[in-house]
Amino acid sequence: MKHISFIMDGNGRWAEQRNLPRLSGHEMGAKALVKALTDLHNLNVECASFYAFSTDNDKRNSQEVSNILGVIAYFLDNDIKALAKELDLQVRIIGDLKRLPEKLVDIICQLNSKCINNKGMKVLLAIGYGGDIEICNAFDILLKKRMLFKDTTPLTPNELFSALYTANVPNPDIVIRYGGYSRLSNFMPLQTAYSELFFLDALWPDYDIEKVKEIINKFYTIKRNFGGTDA
Ligand code: FPP
Repeated sequence: MKHISFIMDGNGRWAEQRNLPRLSGHEMGAKALVKALTDLHNLNVECASFYAFSTDNDKRNSQEVSNILGVIAYFLDNDIKALAKELDLQVRIIGDLKRLPEKLVDIICQLNSKCINNKGMKVLLAIGYGGDIEICNAFDILLKKRMLFKDTTPLTPNELFSALYTANVPNPDIVIRYGGYSRLSNFMPLQTAYSELFFLDALWPDYDIEKVKEIINKFYTIKRNFGGTDA
């Protein structure tokens, strides 16, 4: 399996169903993420990506935003950092860091530098991520480069993809969304054009590797032509 993506939805509902504060749901969600990383490493997955915090999540009340970002900062600086070392994970945060608090950005930079020589599974954590912002960012990069080199040739898909946050990472084969909704919510809109999509009613803190294995097995039975034919 080259690349599997997870949209981790349903943390809040998981907590509310148990009369717990939503913060507990996010903590359990982060624990599920740590478990998934170990499981996917054991399955020899090449790349795993996780949608942790979107640019649209900014619209939540400030206490909820600060709780989620606090959980993310704590787990990045502790469990994820330790696991990256143990499993040699190439952890990369993708998103618009300008939108994130300075303390979290410091933790992200430290983690990036600690993982720079790692060779194991690639892990993309989308934090402060929005697919639309990613595309705008890519256009800004390409426009500046093209102005510098006075390049007026038509833009190619390869060039566009090389300027996305996911440069050098294969597009997701599979996207699994938890939490009962059938949408991608601005997650990798260009990269998921040919991904197989799976929507689960289960809430993310109830992540279970057996279900993921079932989906991976199903994926291998699907014929993928990428718009072509068998011939
Ligand atoms: C969606 O559930 C989940 C989030 C907005 C936060 C996800 C964050 C984590 C799982 C922590 C990740 C940790 C690291 C280290 C990257 P929701 O609150 O929208 O749930 P609801 O739909 O039930 O309200």
